[in-house]
Amino acid sequence: MNRLPDGDGVSQGDGTVAVVTGAARGIGAAVALRLAAGRAAVVVVDRRESDTAGTVAAIRRAGGRALGIGCDVAVPAEVRTAVLRTAAAFGRIDVLVNCAGLTRDRLLLAMDDAEWDTVLDVSLGGTMRWSLAAAELMKRRGSGRIVTFSSVAAEGNPGQSNYATAKAALAGFTRSLAAELGPHGITVNAVAPGFVATPMVDELASRLGVDHEAFLKTAASRAAVGRVGTVEDIAGVVAFLAGPDSGYLTGQTVSVDGGRR
Ligand SMILES: NC(=O)c1ccc[n+]([C@@H]2O[C@H](COP(=O)([O-])OP(=O)(O)OC[C@H]3O[C@@H](n4cnc5c(N)ncnc54)[C@H](O)[C@@H]3O)[C@@H](O)[C@H]2O)c1
Repeated sequence: MNRLPDGDGVSQGDGTVAVVTGAARGIGAAVALRLAAGRAAVVVVDRRESDTAGTVAAIRRAGGRALGIGCDVAVPAEVRTAVLRTAAAFGRIDVLVNCAGLTRDRLLLAMDDAEWDTVLDVSLGGTMRWSLAAAELMKRRGSGRIVTFSSVAAEGNPGQSNYATAKAALAGFTRSLAAELGPHGITVNAVAPGFVATPMVDELASRLGVDHEAFLKTAASRAAVGRVGTVEDIAGVVAFLAGPDSGYLTGQTVSVDGGRR
């Protein structure tokens, strides 16, 4: 039986502390709300503390516990400060969901160094920094769950060599970290969403100058289930990976793409 005993750090019950990066909006906000509904106290992390106010308020309105922390995950000193604030407020981290990510799409021949570096620094560097800091706290308790965010784009996508590289690298990072942290009771898994209706894809449609409705319709036609993903679709899978029923699952990248064709 893989279920961890009550009171264990990954039970998502009272006393569990979850950190979700990139939780001001989109998938991260839905994950934060979902974990809070499972009675975890949630640290809502995004670039600026003011950005986190909406998610924090939504969690509190629903009767949950939340703390908003401003932290650019690409800046090591900001991650260190955010971890110290989390430790001061709650004394532990049981669940870390590395959701912060962004795109800077351009064909490689026209891409500048900043567009390459920013995407790698946020998605890959931010995940590495938060995972390292959280793993140190989790190791002391002998339990924990880390979830990283890959993407179907990891398979390669024109105009997204920076993003695809970061997301593909995260699969290797996830497997490596799972091997390193497994003996300490910590599991590490990735989700790889397909097309999910969030502000990120709205911005992509605007940049491409395509009609939003048509954009969503085309994406829906590429999924076996005939629709685009919702943030809740992804949050449900993350909640499973962050919870007590996934204790024998580690190092995996789970595609959540509606059966992309
Ligand atoms: N939407 C999709 O179709 C899709 C598909 C595959 C993977 N993903 C991945 O899912 C995750 C969430 O995507 P989303 O669609 O909700 O995006 P989104 O743009 O709606 O939300 C991303 C959040 O990350 C935050 N963020 C960006 N850079 C940050 C930084 N340096 N420090 C702290 N926070 C930062 C943003 O402020 C924002 O709140 C990302 O990792 C993304 O790559 C999304």
